[in-house]
Amino acid sequence: MTPSSHPSVPTAESPRTALSQDELKTLVGQAALKYVVPGEIVGVGTGSTVNKFIDALATMKDQIAGAVSSSVASTERLLALGIRVFDCNEVARLAVYIDGADEIDGKGNMVKGGGAALTREKIVAAQSDRFVCIADESKLVEVLGAFPLPVEVIPMATQRLIAQFAARGGTARTRLRNGVPLVTDNGQHLLDVTGLRITEPRDFEAEVSQWPGVVTVGVFAYQRAQICLLGTAQGVRTMSF
Ligand code: 5RP
Repeated sequence: MTPSSHPSVPTAESPRTALSQDELKTLVGQAALKYVVPGEIVGVGTGSTVNKFIDALATMKDQIAGAVSSSVASTERLLALGIRVFDCNEVARLAVYIDGADEIDGKGNMVKGGGAALTREKIVAAQSDRFVCIADESKLVEVLGAFPLPVEVIPMATQRLIAQFAARGGTARTRLRNGVPLVTDNGQHLLDVTGLRITEPRDFEAEVSQWPGVVTVGVFAYQRAQICLLGTAQGVRTMSF
C-alpha cells in the first residue's frame, strides 16, 4: 500500500487535520509494508510503532514466509496474528528489518532501547541487508543524546558502569519496573543515561561496547538505518541515508 492510497493519509486534495502521535505511528507502520519482500522472512523490531507495523503486516501474512522477532512482546503479537516466527539461527540473512527508534539523526544513526529490546534488536538488524526505521517526526534530532540512552548491562557491573558514564558527563540510573530493576528478555538490567551529547555515534558505540559488563549500548551507528519513514503532518517523509 502506498501512502497516498490510504484513507487517513493527507493528500494535496484533502483537508489536513493535525494527526496525533498514535496516528502518525499507524501511518508509518502501514507505509513500511512496501519494503516487505514477498515470499521472504521479515525482521521485526519492538515498540508501539512496530506494533502498528505488525498489525499491518497481518494483512499480507499469506505473502510472506514469516518473521524474525526482536522481543518476546513482538513474538507474542506476531503469533497472535497468525504470523510464523523463526529463530535467528534458522535464518541466514534477512532482506529487511523494520523497527522504530527513540531518536534518529540526519545520517540514520539512532538511539534505541526505550522498549528494553535493544540487544535483540541489534542482533536482528546485524543480520539484515536493510534497516527501515519507522518513527514519528518527534524522533528526528540533530544530535543524539536528548533521549536517555539505554544500555543493557550485566548487573554485577552496574556501579562501575555508572561511574564510567559519570566520568563522561552522563548520569546513569538503573531502569526500574514496579520499584525493582527491570529484567530484560535476556535476564539482564538496563541503565538509562542522561546528560550525554553523542556527536560521534560510531566512536561512542565502539568505545562503550568495550566496557566490561556492557551487553549492548543503545546507539545504533554500525547498524544504522538506510531508510527512515518519518510520520509528519504532511504525510510520510522518506529519508534515505
Ligand atoms: C524498543 C525500541 C523502540 O523501537 C523504541 O523505543 C521506539 O519505541 P516506540 O515506537 O514505542 O516509540 O528501541 O527497544
